[in-house]
Amino acid sequence: MNQNIRQKSLPEDRRAFWDQFYAKSAGSWELTLPSQFAAFVANEIDRQSHVIDVGCGNARDSFFFSRHGFKVTGMDASEAAIASAQKHAQKQGGDDLEFVRTNLKDGLVERVLSERRSETVCVYARFFLHAITDDEEDALIRALRSGCRPGDVVAFEYRTLADRATTKIAAPHFRRYVSATDLDAKMEASEFRKCYGVEGGGFAKYKTEDAIVARAIYEKTQ
Ligand SMILES: C[S@@+](CC[C@H](N)C(=O)[O-])C[C@H]1O[C@@H](n2cnc3c(N)ncnc32)[C@H](O)[C@@H]1O
Repeated sequence: MNQNIRQKSLPEDRRAFWDQFYAKSAGSWELTLPSQFAAFVANEIDRQSHVIDVGCGNARDSFFFSRHGFKVTGMDASEAAIASAQKHAQKQGGDDLEFVRTNLKDGLVERVLSERRSETVCVYARFFLHAITDDEEDALIRALRSGCRPGDVVAFEYRTLADRATTKIAAPHFRRYVSATDLDAKMEASEFRKCYGVEGGGFAKYKTEDAIVARAIYEKTQ
């Protein structure tokens, strides 16, 4: 039985959902605490890295990386999210923080990778893979394959198949539960070696919700 939430699967529906979601909070935007995953990744990667936060949303993790000295590009499809992040970047961010709107299929991830601001890049995507379609995931992986260089790192945290049955408190939106095994195979076929991986509860707890997620870090091999 397919329990993925498909009612908001059309691109314009999903865009409208996220635009309304971020527009609602734009007036009361504040520098929020980072996700647990961001703190974990910051401790794993080179301090000189250029972090590309794909699907950055309200950009709390982009600002966290930036304030800790990383060069950061936050990317998202939501105009409201990007406009709000750009507005606050100058005052609240670090020295090297920018935001770019993308839909993944417009070549912008490839362009940001080709205009990298550091020897090493970390493409960071939290709670993103399950919020995009199969096609969009394939477009992202193609961009990573062509744009990343050996030694670049990719860090993902996403809801897995085992999360289908958990109780959600966040507003219902498009969710595509991801098979960690399938994703690992796709990444391996795209010249990425898995360096770290874990799956379970307790990693992304939010109030009464405890999502079953996978965390994975991959390194480009060639
Ligand atoms: C669940 S939110 C995650 C936000 C943030 N990473 C976090 O952890 O709080 C998913 C984000 O993906 C963005 N998104 C969805 N489809 C996209 C696409 N095709 N290209 C770029 N961003 C997209 C949405 O606008 C939304 O901000």
